[in-house]
Amino acid sequence: MAVRSLCTGNLLNQFLSKKVSPATCIKFGSTWSNVEMGPPDAILGITEAFKKDSSPQKINLGVGAYRDDNGKPFVLECVKKAEQIMLQENLDKEYAPINGTAEFCLETAKLAFGDNNPVVKEGRNMTVQGISGTGALRLGAAFFSKFYSKSKDFWIPTPSWGNHTPIFKHSGLDVKSYRYYDPSTCGFDFAGAMEDISKIPEGSVIVLHACAHNPTGVDPRPEQWKEMSSLIKKKNLFPFFDMAYQGFASGDTTKDAFALRQFVEDGHEVALAQSYAKNMGLYGERAGAFTIVCGSKEEADRNMSQMKIIIRGMYSSPPIHGAKIVTRVLTNPDLKNLWLKEVKGMADRIITMREALVAALAKEGSSKNWQHITDQIGMFCFTGLKPDQVERLTKEFSIYLTKDGRISVAGVSSHNVDYLAKAMHAVTK
Ligand SMILES: Cc1ncc(COP(=O)(O)O)c(C=O)c1O
Repeated sequence: MAVRSLCTGNLLNQFLSKKVSPATCIKFGSTWSNVEMGPPDAILGITEAFKKDSSPQKINLGVGAYRDDNGKPFVLECVKKAEQIMLQENLDKEYAPINGTAEFCLETAKLAFGDNNPVVKEGRNMTVQGISGTGALRLGAAFFSKFYSKSKDFWIPTPSWGNHTPIFKHSGLDVKSYRYYDPSTCGFDFAGAMEDISKIPEGSVIVLHACAHNPTGVDPRPEQWKEMSSLIKKKNLFPFFDMAYQGFASGDTTKDAFALRQFVEDGHEVALAQSYAKNMGLYGERAGAFTIVCGSKEEADRNMSQMKIIIRGMYSSPPIHGAKIVTRVLTNPDLKNLWLKEVKGMADRIITMREALVAALAKEGSSKNWQHITDQIGMFCFTGLKPDQVERLTKEFSIYLTKDGRISVAGVSSHNVDYLAKAMHAVTK
């Protein structure tokens, strides 16, 4: 009886099924004893399993971070140089402004919209630093939740980055989906997307991956973006861009910003979340930004005042180190040129690995059509492998990837591509 009154929930259940002793139950019967164990993160779970595998040929294709051709994390030379400059500047560690420094926000907006874009020139961009791309999306979600009166519905593509749904739901928004990926072609379902978008209720928010769609690697072509832009305009939907891979897709930051800039040119008011995790390799530094394009500078200032109130109550002010690196790189012409070369280097390595994988599959004698591997772009590739084939890859070949058949092409190298092709052929023939 004492046990029943002292402990509850999960712990009580364990006591009743004789898994824990009465003493444990009384000792640990705390306020939180009824909190259930949550499921492990799908991607981190893959890395855990990978670490435990002792096979010398094991490959981790689950992780969404760039690796060099030796499978090692890559710190960009421009970042190291910026940090050396910062060290000599003997900087203090004072707080950043609530919304991040003006210089960081201006450079980040210029990178996205273009140096001479009227939005930036006229100061119509309300841009704040976010805690990388995730934090930027979260700020956007909070702002829309509070100030966007037309709708609470956020429409995301099927599939989308796994974190979109929790981020938007966290802010009390409703998440709905429109068709995007066609499993029969491993490509873009343009007709399906257009049909679904044409049925989205007016005023809703539509989330668009600006480039290098995660998880599919499938992007609309420029002329498809144009058609989507005019339909979205006609339907009076609000385009919310997530741009986590600018420069990382094609190797060219201007080309990768095509969709965003086209929408702005077409007269859309857009929202934008940016991240420097992938394109500057600043993963753990958490540098990113959120922007809303406003009708005037005065309107942007009013939005900014409200955004600052939201940020102040969430985390007060953003981390400074990553933002300082970004500012140094983007304002120093030599460092900026070096960065543009390095982004292209990363994108090119990924494109080369896509080609090498398709060639190696052909060499293995695979008669399947793998063209989608080179048609897709960016860090990820939706291979079209089925869950049972993925399971075989892991069990028989120590190759780790998510069940949906997504591989991080950044995990493919000249050293493991032949082995990967052999394994993919073995499970698909
Ligand atoms: C589509 C998309 N959006 C946003 C992010 C945000 O990443 P981070 O918070 O690391 O900048 C990612 C990272 O994987 C992503 O793929």
